[in-house]
Amino acid sequence: VTGDMAGKVIVITGASRGIGKAAALELAKRGAKIVAVARDRARGETAVADIKAASGNQNVDLLLADLSSQGDIRRLADELLARYPRIDVLINNAGAVNLQRSVTVDGIETTFAVNHLAYFLLTNLLLDRLKSSAPARIVNVSSDASRGGTIDFEDLKGVRDYNGWRAYSQSKLANILFTDELARRLQGTGVTANSLHPGTVATGFGKSQNNPLWLRWGIRVAGLFMLKPEQGAQTLVYLASSPEVEGISGKFFTKNREANQPAAASDENVARKLWDVSARMTGLT
Ligand SMILES: NC(=O)c1ccc[n+]([C@@H]2O[C@H](COP(=O)([O-])OP(=O)(O)OC[C@H]3O[C@@H](n4cnc5c(N)ncnc54)[C@H](OP(=O)(O)O)[C@@H]3O)[C@@H](O)[C@H]2O)c1
Repeated sequence: VTGDMAGKVIVITGASRGIGKAAALELAKRGAKIVAVARDRARGETAVADIKAASGNQNVDLLLADLSSQGDIRRLADELLARYPRIDVLINNAGAVNLQRSVTVDGIETTFAVNHLAYFLLTNLLLDRLKSSAPARIVNVSSDASRGGTIDFEDLKGVRDYNGWRAYSQSKLANILFTDELARRLQGTGVTANSLHPGTVATGFGKSQNNPLWLRWGIRVAGLFMLKPEQGAQTLVYLASSPEVEGISGKFFTKNREANQPAAASDENVARKLWDVSARMTGLT
């Protein structure tokens, strides 16, 4: 396989559709070996077949994990470590908005578990492998929804009057706080960590059957005016592959450019506290 990413191993979550699938396809076209993570075997297999066909790159593997389950994340990490002697890029992308509150098998509110704790746990379990593969990159998909977010340390489980958008904004702010704290901890290792807003993109986002019909249809209609998944994938692909961001870490990007982080993301005390709480919630201490 030829291309500027030939020989690189890229792990990407949420590769079964949307922005993740589009990014996986583009990176496959550039010759990378893609390890696509999906929770549903049928959707995962279809995505992998599509990516192989459209890229002409047969180097696309599928691993299954439901990222709402910490047990599944640990099994996924074990499989990745057993199968891939090097991991050059980890893209944490899988995420969702859930207007109805639900709780994972670990007893954690689903939005916080999937959108934030899964990034945190999978990254930490793969960190030594990323370090031994340096120069390596971690790319965390956040959102401009983070701008309205605050971290409610008193109620991370969203027990008190749950609000789906608030939970989503909080989780996307957590993505940036986590990325920045990770970047500080990774200084000098040759592993970088950056976060991004992909743009407003027409994907499966918000269309889960758990969400009310008005939201699903509202998003469908609004989708006519949104970016296509290939466009939404641009900044993921840029951060995963561009020589321009070699060595750059702890930054937030949109449209292939560094952008201002939400003010709430710049508080290092909050970032450290979130790290400690997340470590406790995932049994990493
Ligand atoms: N679309 C936008 O306008 C927009 C804007 C800002 C940020 N983002 C961010 O972009 C990322 C990708 O979203 P998208 O727009 O591409 O949405 P999408 O089309 O709904 O794709 C989300 C992906 O995440 C996976 N996923 C969700 N829950 C999972 C779980 N418990 N375990 C494993 N995988 C799970 C989905 O798998 P299934 O196929 O199994 O459902 C799917 O592959 C998210 O982090 C989102 O916050 C999107």
